[in-house]
Amino acid sequence: MATEVKNGNGKATDKPASEKISSTSPATAATAPATSTAPEKSQGKAGLEDIVAATSKICFIDGDEGRLVYRGYDIHDIVNGGACFEEVIYLLWHDKFPNKSELADFRKLLSQHRRLPREVVAHLYTIPNNAPPMEALRTAVSELALYDDDERMTPEANYLKAVKLLSQTATIVAFDDCIRNERDLVQPDPSLSHAANFLYMLTGKVPDDELVRFFDICLILHADHELNASTFTARVIAATLSDMYSAITGAIGALKGPLHGGANEQVMKMLVEIGDPSRADGYIKSAISEKKKIMGFGHRVYHTEDPRATHLRKMSEAMGERIGNMKWYEMSRRIEAFILQEKKLYPNVDFYSASVYYLMGIQMDLFTPIFAVSRVSGWTAHVLEQYSNNRLIRPMAEYTGPTHEKYVPLESR
Ligand SMILES: CC(C)(COP(=O)(O)OP(=O)(O)OC[C@H]1O[C@@H](n2cnc3c(N)ncnc32)[C@H](O)[C@@H]1OP(=O)(O)O)[C@@H](O)C(=O)NCCC(=O)NCCS
Repeated sequence: MATEVKNGNGKATDKPASEKISSTSPATAATAPATSTAPEKSQGKAGLEDIVAATSKICFIDGDEGRLVYRGYDIHDIVNGGACFEEVIYLLWHDKFPNKSELADFRKLLSQHRRLPREVVAHLYTIPNNAPPMEALRTAVSELALYDDDERMTPEANYLKAVKLLSQTATIVAFDDCIRNERDLVQPDPSLSHAANFLYMLTGKVPDDELVRFFDICLILHADHELNASTFTARVIAATLSDMYSAITGAIGALKGPLHGGANEQVMKMLVEIGDPSRADGYIKSAISEKKKIMGFGHRVYHTEDPRATHLRKMSEAMGERIGNMKWYEMSRRIEAFILQEKKLYPNVDFYSASVYYLMGIQMDLFTPIFAVSRVSGWTAHVLEQYSNNRLIRPMAEYTGPTHEKYVPLESR
């Protein structure tokens, strides 16, 4: 199974060479008995569970205590202390919170880079209207690379790419939504915050402060999460010294899956299908008996409440009160109680974010792209960190196939 990979220190493995089995290892093949069975049983759990694959100073998760920490700061303190998303991006990228003038400069920098290359906008119009927005986003982010001719791999050049990716991901998602739904494009407004501008580009209306704060908190909560599947993908790509656009394009592809970021959209589809809180228990009961996975529940790392869900649950309730519709919150609460009792599973970030976004009037197919609008801050932070102390990430496979088959020429098969 995979062994520990450390960045930059030249010591890639904590296993003695004698324990290594590799399909590319002639020494192992030469000494192995002539057999058609797998040479050794797995040393680790599937899915790289519990494997340390990098060192990082960006994000810490305590899965038993239910703590999420960005650069040493607890997510509860960040949210309750009133930080905005831009402060959190700065924290992730700079390893410190900005002071007032640094924040003002940073906001200006981000807002200056919101506009997309016109070729990318033109191409968005050619994407089929029924294409999933995550596919449009993945394609357009990949395309941004074509219009950034700075090939340097310096920290400054890569920092600017991170700025562009952060700002332009939001514009792509909003523009694609306008185009797909045959609305006129709403150009970014540099006077608005990242959260406010995104909602403005989506709706054409400047949102009120409460809505902006709720959305800002959603962006903060989704900003980073250690070596989740998409961030790991980004780091693997960056570790080949490929460019940042490639790393983020790959990360978007990983985020799209329903076991990762794609779960939030599936949660809302489930809530709509259930239709009424009184039907929640019956629906979940039969889903469990059919051994179906309930989207928005369970987590590889948390064995207790996901701290992001704590805030999202509160916002789901507050958004329900705000618009006078408690149905989705009540249904979510019933599902949560039922699954905790039956399966001892807790809601993850995707469960309550679904009803929060829905109550904000956001279309379901935008839920996962919005995850990307936030997570691009963490992806780029990890890519910058990877570049700063790089070593190729190349784990091993535990080979389970035959090793000494006899080659039979084509004409004799
Ligand atoms: C997040 C997730 C992929 C983690 O997966 P994992 O660490 O590989 O855990 P497993 O899928 O092996 O699940 C372990 C056990 O819990 C059960 N389980 C985990 N999540 C479950 C869920 N959402 N619904 C029902 N059962 C679940 C599994 O069936 C399995 O039970 P078993 O041992 O009896 O077979 C998984 O919990 C899941 O699929 N959740 C739904 C998708 C989701 O919300 N993803 C967003 C994550 S932030």
